[in-house]
Amino acid sequence: AKDRIELRNGTGVPCVGFGTWELPEGDAGLGALRQALADGYRHIDTAEAYGTEADVGRALRESGIAREELFVTSKVWNDHRGRDAALRAFEGSLERLGLEYLDLYLVHWPAAQGPDDEWQRTNRQTWRALEELYRDGRVRAIGVSNFKRRHLEPLMDAADILPMVNQIELHPGCAQKETRAFCDRHDIVVEAWSPLGRGRVLGSEALADIAAVYGCTTAQLCLRWCLQRRAIPLPKSTDPARISENARIFWFDISEEDLQRIDALDPLGQSGLDPDTVDF
Ligand code: A2P
Repeated sequence: AKDRIELRNGTGVPCVGFGTWELPEGDAGLGALRQALADGYRHIDTAEAYGTEADVGRALRESGIAREELFVTSKVWNDHRGRDAALRAFEGSLERLGLEYLDLYLVHWPAAQGPDDEWQRTNRQTWRALEELYRDGRVRAIGVSNFKRRHLEPLMDAADILPMVNQIELHPGCAQKETRAFCDRHDIVVEAWSPLGRGRVLGSEALADIAAVYGCTTAQLCLRWCLQRRAIPLPKSTDPARISENARIFWFDISEEDLQRIDALDPLGQSGLDPDTVDF
């Protein structure tokens, strides 16, 4: 089906996920999650570092949607790197979510500061934990987030199971050409966090002009561009109309010429969270 992308191991991922980074805690966030599920979203992206797992779990339970129809992702944070800590972090995430398994579990950040041999070794140990969880059937797929080629290569050299997903900041004005090319070559599916540049790309006149050609909104153009570049967008909104708008991106196709125009946009709306220079 065109609303799913298949990972290397055959796991199908619903093509638009609901992002929960910086989703407000309490009623506003819960309301957005309920709205998203009611509106047809079946893929929810969370992380222990977001503080949203308990709300996600509650909204999922209340929705009554069958578990096998849902696709739920979480991520292990930097303070739980290494094999044992990552295994404990996973149990914590499952408990907060109230789930028996996850669909996708990611190493959240390469944390590539300090001597190369140190962070590379730590990432390999964290990855061991994810491989074990995968083999034990606790998670249907495993991957990383915010990894560039220089972070991926040492991990892949030592891995038994290669990452299936890499979730990165990706939006018009942040096209991530090198990382996407590397992931494409290695059959690693890219997911896009902040596919609207945290809303900062939506004022672009260049994007508005292209959107007008298709009769879509600028937000829909950004999300559709992700999809046609084989990345899974994870937009978030607390506004019911926008939540709905962001899921409706299957009724038009951007031409290759316009895709290339969007690829070539100057840097725009970037978060500045570059894993080469930023650590937490
Ligand atoms: P709001 O919650 O008020 O809708 P990203 O997913 O790239 O991080 O962007 C999220 C930001 O973009 C939020 O501030 C959100 O605000 C805004 N946003 C989300 N969807 C839309 C949309 N369809 N149109 C305009 N703004 C949007």
